[in-house]
Amino acid sequence: MSEVGAAAGSKKTPEKDAILPQKDLTHLFKAKSVAIVGASANPDKIGHQILRNLIEGGFEGDIYPINPKEKTILEKDAYPSVTDVPNFIDLVVISVNANFVMPVLKECVEKGVKHVIVITSGFSEVGNAREEQEIKDIADQFNISLVGPNTLGVVYPPNKMNTSFGPRDVILGKIAFISQSGALAIALMGWTKMEKIGLAALVSVGNKCDIGEEELISYFNEDENVDVITIYMEGIKDGRKFMQTAIKKPVVVLKVGRSQRGARAAASHTGSLAGSDQIYNAAFKQLGVLRAQSFTEAFGWARCLSLPAPDGNDTIIITNGGGIGVRTTDECVAAGIKLFDDPDWLEEKFRETMPSFGCTKNPVDITGQAPADAYQKATRIALEEDRIKAVLVLYCETVITNPLKIARSIAGEYKKSGSKKPLLVAMVGGERTREALHYLNHENIPAFDSISEVVDGLKVLYKWQEYKERKLDKPDIKPPPQEVLDIINNAKKEGKKILLEHEARKILELCGVTTPKWGYARNLEEALEIAKGMYPFAMKIVSPEIVHKTDVGGVVLNVRNEEGLKLRYNTMINHIKEVMPAAKIEGVNLIQMVKGIECIVGLSRDPQFGPAVMFGLGGVFVEVMKDVAFRIVPFGKVEATRLIHDVKGNKILDGFRGIVANKPSIIQSLLAIQRLAPYVQECDINPLISNEFGSFAVDARIILE
Ligand code: ACO
Repeated sequence: MSEVGAAAGSKKTPEKDAILPQKDLTHLFKAKSVAIVGASANPDKIGHQILRNLIEGGFEGDIYPINPKEKTILEKDAYPSVTDVPNFIDLVVISVNANFVMPVLKECVEKGVKHVIVITSGFSEVGNAREEQEIKDIADQFNISLVGPNTLGVVYPPNKMNTSFGPRDVILGKIAFISQSGALAIALMGWTKMEKIGLAALVSVGNKCDIGEEELISYFNEDENVDVITIYMEGIKDGRKFMQTAIKKPVVVLKVGRSQRGARAAASHTGSLAGSDQIYNAAFKQLGVLRAQSFTEAFGWARCLSLPAPDGNDTIIITNGGGIGVRTTDECVAAGIKLFDDPDWLEEKFRETMPSFGCTKNPVDITGQAPADAYQKATRIALEEDRIKAVLVLYCETVITNPLKIARSIAGEYKKSGSKKPLLVAMVGGERTREALHYLNHENIPAFDSISEVVDGLKVLYKWQEYKERKLDKPDIKPPPQEVLDIINNAKKEGKKILLEHEARKILELCGVTTPKWGYARNLEEALEIAKGMYPFAMKIVSPEIVHKTDVGGVVLNVRNEEGLKLRYNTMINHIKEVMPAAKIEGVNLIQMVKGIECIVGLSRDPQFGPAVMFGLGGVFVEVMKDVAFRIVPFGKVEATRLIHDVKGNKILDGFRGIVANKPSIIQSLLAIQRLAPYVQECDINPLISNEFGSFAVDARIILE
């Protein structure tokens, strides 16, 4: 269930804490004393570099190198073991061979240490899951928060703490970055510095045997130094646990392993399994997590999400070039960003910022000759005017203007205004412009060298706003009635893996899915009796041996009267006896014909997230266009409505060729099918035919576990 709605405020969610007992991570990040086991005098060793990073990064707490052979390393007193350190230790970084990790961890227990980072490789990522579980067990038994194993370390600039063997200097900012790949974390530390992107934290989670994304998000939710969380993710270990995480601050995820090939590579990389990409999409949406497609996008978004949320929809564009102004307008419109419709007061406010040939319509064009003070004035007016809710400032490099000066004037005004509304900048040009972009980013004003990125950045701010404000879902999925369990248990006793169609339809009916009038007849006499008042109907063969009924002539449509029933019944039975003499014919199902919009509703299981429900439009929409969407079970009415909306062709439901679907009953079906989640492997309602009177499960298939 998404917590975003509630999370938007500062409300605590005690029930969440109950689901996810959180180890206290405060002194993992705000440690006052750090010991490095495996610190070495040899600069080629990882333990040496971690010690050096910690010292040269300016860590102000106590630093204890642990090495049985050395007296001092890098001018710090060394100790043979953590147990020999005379003072309390908040955090121990372990950088010794895998064989020694367990004995060192036990020494940490003896010392009463509560936070440990295990740099060492050689655990589940190479198939050594047992030893990894053993260290996890110790960590749990003694309430130790353990990062790793197989990690690059943790960097927390607000505490000047760098326990990694990555680059030394990181710019202090408000973005926490969680990475499942250590190598990538190293690369990105360098990249963020180059791009002047500030970090509040960097955590390489490694094999995440204990501390993973869920615990870190929960911690950063409450950390005053963090505004935005970005995650590089290869796979989630426990999807159900992930779904319990409260999202209180913007979380941007770059999840790799989209393709089958990519998913395999991710699995072999850290021993995690990559779940199906559609399900990840569903989970992120349900939870209120923003999914980026690339690093540049993820960090671009993160920079924008550090801005204050817009207090409304009206955006203004200030530009020195008509061309980029128009392009930005087009992109804003395509992105659903609302621009002012040129009210009169724009002329009144902005005329003084431009020469007579400038334009006071939105985009406000202060002209190509606009110097820094024109930008300054225009920016000030936009920031001061309450009717303007978000500001996009654009600049095209000209020889007569100075981009750095312009950047300074924009940043100065933004600071002066108290930075209360979002202001984003795009500057297009050469070397001089690049310098200006760096300056703005350094001043925490998201600045881009492309129009698409700046518009995308504003769009994502609005998207997050929507997530924060959206209605909370309240899943209340009741267990199915006993009769359903009896049918399932009897079928299992008989060794059935797939239920017969009428059994499946009966179960769905009992769970609350509407079905057309239908009946099961063992012979023609029974069929004639059941058929009374049901014409026209479809007739389908019932036989455990016949899975694809149409292929053997086991389905006839539009049986209109008694004559037709007799004739078509006999033809069907005789034909099947001929083509499949071994098939045991148990009878026929009669299902009243229903007209309406064909949909598909399904329930399946994902290895990471467990049961998930699918919705789509039937026929070509599902078969050719694969236009389906998912939600993780459990979800309630609100999320079911969003699920329907996620399907691209959803407008068809509002009316197509004179038929309107009945959305409340589709929602009802999406809730009802969830009642089966613990008991079946898969369930398909295909089609669920929806019309103004309701939504009817015309055909159903249930596969047992
Ligand atoms: N207590 C204290 N010190 C010890 C102990 C102990 N129990 N045991 C050994 N030491 C000392 C050693 O004597 C040595 O000191 P010295 O240089 O003075 O002799 C030092 O600790 C280091 O031990 P070594 O056995 O030399 O180990 P080394 O530093 O070569 O390797 C390491 C240890 C780095 C943990 C290695 O086993 C390893 O796992 N490397 C991979 C790390 C990694 O890549 N992690 C993932 C990062 S993410 C990414 O992909 C980049």
